[in-house]
Amino acid sequence: MEKFVIHGGKQLSGEVTISGAKNAAVAIVAATILCDEPVILENCPQISDITFCMKILKSMGADIKVLSKNKIRFDTRGIVHPKVPYEMARVMRASSYFLGALLGRFHEAHVALPGGCDLGDRPIDQHLKAFRTLGANDSIDAGEVHLNADSLVGGLIYFDINSVGATINAMLASVKADGYTVIENAAKEPHVVDVANFLNSMGADIMGAGTDTIKVRGVKRLKGVEYAIIPDQIEAGTFMVAAAATKSDVLIKNVIPKHLESITAALRKIEVGVEEFDDAIRIYPIGELKRTTIKTMPHPGFPTDMQPQISTLLTLAQGASVVTDDIFDNRFRYVNELRRMGADIVVNGKAVIIQGVERLKGASVMAPDLRAGAALVIAGLAAEGTTEIGDIHYIERGYEDIVEKLQSLGADIKRVTIDDYDDEEVKKDA
Ligand code: EPU
Repeated sequence: MEKFVIHGGKQLSGEVTISGAKNAAVAIVAATILCDEPVILENCPQISDITFCMKILKSMGADIKVLSKNKIRFDTRGIVHPKVPYEMARVMRASSYFLGALLGRFHEAHVALPGGCDLGDRPIDQHLKAFRTLGANDSIDAGEVHLNADSLVGGLIYFDINSVGATINAMLASVKADGYTVIENAAKEPHVVDVANFLNSMGADIMGAGTDTIKVRGVKRLKGVEYAIIPDQIEAGTFMVAAAATKSDVLIKNVIPKHLESITAALRKIEVGVEEFDDAIRIYPIGELKRTTIKTMPHPGFPTDMQPQISTLLTLAQGASVVTDDIFDNRFRYVNELRRMGADIVVNGKAVIIQGVERLKGASVMAPDLRAGAALVIAGLAAEGTTEIGDIHYIERGYEDIVEKLQSLGADIKRVTIDDYDDEEVKKDA
């Protein structure tokens, strides 16, 4: 068992480089199933969710070669059976992308209902709606989703709600379908656009990604390419907030500032200094942090994946703040942990109400999920004293080299195995 140990209260300084986007990469890695030739992905983040997607592909017969740390070659031609092993699929939300990719290639897919971070109810009805529109039959049997189609034929997919996963799955399933597919009320997140760009670079014909309406004209073949995944919007936002919470001057490199506009706007409202460059963002302190209200929205609104981090920052702002997040049912599980650190924060329905305090104090806490875990890292960096964070496997699902990156900014953070750490502490006490 591992944990992070942070001696907080120190300013950060210097530069940090953002890795490839997790939520684009998990979909793009699954999408390699659709390619008729080998594909090379660059800027592929080395995080456990990607390692896991690679394990799934390998278990199905794909040939995968790691060419360098973030450059990986995928040859999925060896996959013959469109089924993801049950125990592998149920661990990760992104395993749902194997449904769309396998259906698109084999007209058949067998994938366990996806798991992943516990953010409350996470249905896949919109994904199934898309597959049905294209002509697939579905059933759920013993926890596994089964899809079958004699042929896939383009159609009009109208989503009742805005869903990143269902939009991407609709593109994956329709990219090789016969004819023309229109996806209405599509999600517009940067990773949706990146998946469309990846598919187009292989020869797909997808237009409109990044708007409400995506149009897909089916093609017969997809050719091999080298493709670089976009930088991670949420990792960048997390470092922006970490710098703000520690009143630091930090340059965050390899970002697309346009993807960060809602986060930049929120930080400016809190009176944090933000300077934008072509592919970098500088965060610097101005004075006291100010209260604000924030509501999460689908892109280009403020992302739900940044809600725990920005709420953590607001625990240190002057006055009362309200952050509303109704995208998932259960995204406030970090609140109890922050209270252990002295934060004045309560959940009220779909919102947190925060009364700013002067300082947070180190404590022993547990990461309840990926972004909540990242929020606790930020709290630990800002707090006086020592913070220990358990269940860090959640954090490592989505942040490449988080400890090394923070150390390079001057943070006092270590990743320790619990037995080693306890031995060290016993020796110190003796
Ligand atoms: N929803 C349905 N039916 C569906 C699909 C979604 O009701 O068929 C609902 C969800 O329950 C939720 C809302 O629609 O209330 C939005 O869910 P969405 O489908 O957009 O989320 P997702 O595809 O499951 C992705 C990211 C999440 C991110 C959300 C929202 C990946 C692998 N995951 O999830 O990222 O929070 O979009 O932007 O891309 C994270 O990175 O920490 C993370 C949880």
